[in-house]
Amino acid sequence: MIAISAFCASLLLLLPLTIVLYKLWWTRLYFQSIMESQGIKGPSYNFFHGNTKDIIKIKNQTGSNAPMYLPDHDVFPRLQPHWYSWMKSYGKNFLVWIGTQPQVVVTEPDLIREILVNRNGTYPKTEREGHLKKLLGDGIVVAEGEKWLKLRKLANHAFHGECLKDMVPAMVASVRTMLEKWRSYEGKEIEVCGDFRILSSEVISRTAFGSSYVEGIKIFDMLGKLSALVSKNAYKMKFLGPVKLVRTKDDREADKIEQLLHESIMEIVRKRQDEVITGRADSFGSDFLGSLLKAHHEGGEKNQMSAAEIIDECKTFYFAGQLTTYSLLSWTVLLLAIHTDWQEKARNEVLQLFGRENPNSEAIARMKTAVQPCDSYYEKNKRQSHVRKFKFPANVELAIPPLALHRNPDIWGPDAHLFKPERFAEGLAKATKGNPTAFLAFGFGPRTCVGLNYASYEVKIALSMILQQYKFTLSPNYVHSPFWPSLFSLSMERRSCSSHCRQGLFGRKTRAE
Ligand code: HEM
Repeated sequence: MIAISAFCASLLLLLPLTIVLYKLWWTRLYFQSIMESQGIKGPSYNFFHGNTKDIIKIKNQTGSNAPMYLPDHDVFPRLQPHWYSWMKSYGKNFLVWIGTQPQVVVTEPDLIREILVNRNGTYPKTEREGHLKKLLGDGIVVAEGEKWLKLRKLANHAFHGECLKDMVPAMVASVRTMLEKWRSYEGKEIEVCGDFRILSSEVISRTAFGSSYVEGIKIFDMLGKLSALVSKNAYKMKFLGPVKLVRTKDDREADKIEQLLHESIMEIVRKRQDEVITGRADSFGSDFLGSLLKAHHEGGEKNQMSAAEIIDECKTFYFAGQLTTYSLLSWTVLLLAIHTDWQEKARNEVLQLFGRENPNSEAIARMKTAVQPCDSYYEKNKRQSHVRKFKFPANVELAIPPLALHRNPDIWGPDAHLFKPERFAEGLAKATKGNPTAFLAFGFGPRTCVGLNYASYEVKIALSMILQQYKFTLSPNYVHSPFWPSLFSLSMERRSCSSHCRQGLFGRKTRAE
């Protein structure tokens, strides 16, 4: 009896050790040999850390925050220097280790297309862990199968078609408020990024949640803090997969923020719900929050939303709705402040479309706009799969860095890093030489950004209204360091009825008179 107990105890002690050894050694050898046999190589694996320490070291050496000299927009080596240098050393596709997790970084457009089209659901989204999970929950960004279909249908309805057109007046009103504030700065420099952040917060609060920026301010504040924790810990937490042995100060902080975030969102949800329960409103409303609540109360078996799902969707859309459009607008205005010839062309287009009137949905749809560089996305290879010439073992993570494609001279030419909107003069297909995945700003395939049209509308409206009223140049004190939407000031010159007015729409009016 004693012998059996001792045997069981030693087995129990040996089990964790075996799991650790399996993760640290066997998995690594297995993946590495399979990938190397297909010509996919990468930096050497370091015990326990994989390549996470290399990534941190390369990033520190590069100095992401150091100034960059305009008009150079070669941001790939600056923002993702680890991928940039490994791509140079190991080719278009290479293997890296995020702790014990193998990750194949894929930059070939044909392979990317197959992965993102995701036939048969072979490449689900990578499960989020740690702080990122607290930020986005299990919402639409990571959901799969029936749950994703349900969430996507709801979001598609809320951010497209008639619903989107109905949002235009609220977007215009928010921009007008910002421009009214600018009036008191006329002739001076304005730091515009802060105002763009407030603008995008106000627009998503108003259009999707029927509240104001002030009501949602706690939510944005906490989402900001959580995303800062995500960036800070991005390469610190995967040593033993999802199992975390020691809880850090940041973990405790993230728990606290998540709880507060939950309560703040619930406040806004409850307020809307109570309006119907107490008879002050006869429906939950036609905006995104209204659709979520309708699905919660009346969704039936198939479309019902649980309370937890509502919270996750609110978090996702508050987050995605603010940060993305704010970055796009900041980046676009920055480019136009530097390239004043293009600013003039954009203004001409705006004046021809709207004159001095507020933008409307019909003309917005015809307007052209520029798009920011963006981050990376991750898919997981669920089961062993073949992508063209490669065989990926199950559970390898596939990372797709759009910047590697957006700055690829084979696709865009040797001046890939220069701002040359004329590339798109004959449409995207021509510009990308028929490579639809060469331009991945909004993703590709079934998971293409659900807020694409929404973001375009918002940015076009803001840009049009700014161009109608102001000519702007970059402050001479600005130091370019595009690691994150960095603050920048513009020197604004208010437009009176200038040459455009006479030659454009107003010109026709003058002739009629
Ligand atoms: C400039 C603005 C934006 C850019 C560049 C952008 C970019 C992207 C990209 C690249 C993806 C695909 C990610 C992947 O495949 O993993 C995506 C997905 C998504 N975006 Fe956006 N986005 C923008 C604005 C927005 C806005 C304003 C919203 C919300 C109102 C939004 C909501 C979402 C959601 C919910 C998804 C996940 C869709 C799904 O998995 O079905 N995005 N976005």
